[in-house]
Amino acid sequence: MTYNPFDITKIRADFPILKREVNKKPLVYFDNAATSQTPQAVIDVIADYYSSYNANIHRGVHSLSQEATDAYEIARQKIQQHFNAQKAHEIILTSGTTHGINIIASGYAELLKANDELLVSAMEHHSNIVPWQMLCEKTGAVLKVIPMTQKGTLDMTAYASLLSDKTKLVFVNHVSNALGTVNPIASIIEQAHQVGAKVLIDGAQAAPHIKADVQALDVDYYVVSAHKLCGPTGVGMLYGKEDLLNTLPPYQGGGEMIAEVTFEKTTYADLPHKFEAGTPNIAGGIAFGAALDYMNGLGFESIATHENELLVYATTALKEIEGIQIYGEAAEKTAVVSFNVKGIHPYDVGSILDKFGIAVRTGHHCAQPIMDYYQIPGTIRASFSFYNTKEEIDRMIEALHRAIQMLQ
Ligand code: ALA
Repeated sequence: MTYNPFDITKIRADFPILKREVNKKPLVYFDNAATSQTPQAVIDVIADYYSSYNANIHRGVHSLSQEATDAYEIARQKIQQHFNAQKAHEIILTSGTTHGINIIASGYAELLKANDELLVSAMEHHSNIVPWQMLCEKTGAVLKVIPMTQKGTLDMTAYASLLSDKTKLVFVNHVSNALGTVNPIASIIEQAHQVGAKVLIDGAQAAPHIKADVQALDVDYYVVSAHKLCGPTGVGMLYGKEDLLNTLPPYQGGGEMIAEVTFEKTTYADLPHKFEAGTPNIAGGIAFGAALDYMNGLGFESIATHENELLVYATTALKEIEGIQIYGEAAEKTAVVSFNVKGIHPYDVGSILDKFGIAVRTGHHCAQPIMDYYQIPGTIRASFSFYNTKEEIDRMIEALHRAIQMLQ
């Protein structure tokens, strides 16, 4: 399936939800960083699984189970190819980014000792902060913060000076969910490796916009959620280098993650099954593969070009409105604009935009330390996808003017 990337009418026709109205106005969906919408091709894959071959995987000799297992493992291979992992078993299917991070955090509880140092960036989502704080509580390791700048970028000089032979792990998002900043992860990984530290990259916000190559990056762990890139909720990927995953203990005990169980002793299955206890989200995993097919059909370069046009268009239009403050002005950004209107609470603006059928997220975006840094309660965040248009941005700008009139 290949599209002209600018045939937006055709692309939008793939997404049934984009036809609906909200508050009697055509929906303008600008909350893509929270979750993207789902194309019919992916919805059909989920319906087909439940209509035609719903069965548990890796368990039965019967035909349905074989079909489901094959489809699930083909999806794993698609994910492997997309992220260019060397081996399919380095791809662990999870329930999402948070699950992937918790698998690694739990595994290191047995590998760290008191006063080991872990570095986390100042612009992380709570899911890439809290599991590490819990790990520090268990082990006595110390969590240190890589500071950020007013522009919404990481202070790389401070990062270099925080690294030492005490540093064991570094956690940074590829793209900030609240600001859209694309972080220089290749350099972050390289510098961490020079002191022997391992790096986990939260790719949740990058995956819909940037095709990460885990081998070229030489990243140790990379985590994503399928629902940010046109897939379903409740499924995601943890990539880990084979030798590292082999040294970590399992996260959960249960069926399918064992080689042999007796009451005296249990031995664990090989990768990826060691980390996949219990019946997984089978339809979700298969649909994750279909979502990658859909997005690769559009092409990530075309997606980035279109989204960047939307970002520039929206940023320019917002800056023309008096009293608007934009947060996050890194040179390299994905299509996210976080902003506030002087003297008005972000929640009030978001509620009025909703009356005009415009969906944005307001609040701290699960990134409270960023809000504390800017000393604000939250922001209004418009996050764009390849299926959005400049006309929709015009509608948001018009509605913002109305909101300001009503609230000031
Ligand atoms: N992490 C998602 C967001 O940024 C939910 O909205």
